[in-house]
Amino acid sequence: MTQRVLVTGGAGFIGSHTCVALASAGYVPVILDNLGNSDPRVLERLRQITGSTPKFIEGDVRDRALLARIFSDESFSSVIHFAGLKAVGDSVADPLAYYDNNVHGSFVLASAMRDAGVNTLIFSSSATVYGEPESSPIPEDAPRRPANPYGRSKLMVEEALNDLYRSQPGWRIALLRYFNPVGAHESGLIGEHPQGKPNNLMPFVCQVAVGQRDRLQIHGNDYATADGTGVRDYIHVMDLAEGHVAALKHAQNHGELVTLNLGTGKGASVLEVVQAFERASGRSLPYEIGPRRPGDVPAYWADPSLAQATLAWQGHRSLDQMCVDSWRWQQANPRGYG
Ligand code: NAD
Ligand code: UFG
Repeated sequence: MTQRVLVTGGAGFIGSHTCVALASAGYVPVILDNLGNSDPRVLERLRQITGSTPKFIEGDVRDRALLARIFSDESFSSVIHFAGLKAVGDSVADPLAYYDNNVHGSFVLASAMRDAGVNTLIFSSSATVYGEPESSPIPEDAPRRPANPYGRSKLMVEEALNDLYRSQPGWRIALLRYFNPVGAHESGLIGEHPQGKPNNLMPFVCQVAVGQRDRLQIHGNDYATADGTGVRDYIHVMDLAEGHVAALKHAQNHGELVTLNLGTGKGASVLEVVQAFERASGRSLPYEIGPRRPGDVPAYWADPSLAQATLAWQGHRSLDQMCVDSWRWQQANPRGYG
């Protein structure tokens, strides 16, 4: 029987790619999104990729009445919960907005699921829950010391879902801690288009390569890393999307809560990303070395072995592939979906 999956935040970057992976695996995604950080024209792009337009409900995950109606109107096998805010700096400036959206929103969703008897939940957590790690690779049981309200909001939800799982038999929950998702679907039809000046490296690099920004500023080259620039575990967004499908299957077949790192286990420096992007685009990328960005962790990457063993999944697309796919999307859609 076809399984319908409620995908909150499904119009966003990771959610839209996961809708593609769900459709290819035979699931029917239904998107709930308030369009606070996304564009409804993504739906037509999803139709072009998958052959059918996902059902779209415009609304907010914190709207209790709407959630009750959604679960009573149709039946869902499970929920993948992406909806939330994700800008670290904004979370420092306006923590209540982050606790309201990310924490309260997750509570409203989980209550509606409990009331409707839907007990399979995949939750978007983040490597940011680790804060500054003692060492890398980071295993899941490393200390959680998030350094900002965004990270704390993710950890609070993780802890609440652990309590929920312990309190009531039957819940099947996967808490997925993403490292640095980048890239785009290989069609170039969907991708990441941040509003305003990008905070993150890959969208910034894309905008420099396409000529929308003069140069990249590298935030420090005096870290204790091989070339002095920051090191991260970049993972292709389609690998991440496929990881969600694997986590969903696992959750459905095992009555347990799992907490898993979704990363590749390999770190790349800012300069290595710049060089890979130059190869992918055939353009040289102007950059300058600036000061360190306050709050940045010098280097970290995942220990992905638990996810690999549990889900029989791993991120296999290379950094070059991530850059090729980001570049294809950026060139074809310099203004996003507009
Ligand atoms: P995104 O902003 O592109 O997607 C989030 C989507 O949720 C957007 O479409 C937005 O409109 C929607 N949304 C936000 N609040 C909502 C609400 N209250 N009700 C309904 N819809 C709402 O972000 P993304 O990069 O796709 O991230 C998805 C999830 O993954 C987030 O929870 C984020 O915290 C988490 N995450 C992202 C990263 C990353 O680097 N992109 C890393 C770790 C974790
Ligand atoms: N960087 C630059 N120049 C830029 C942007 C970034 O040099 O213009 C550097 C950063 O200093 C860092 C690396 O590129 O060394 C990656 O930075 P990102 O901002 O792309 O990613 P972060 O690892 O800092 O943070 C991201 C998300 C967080 C999330 C975290 C862990 O923004 O929300 O990954 O998942 F919590």
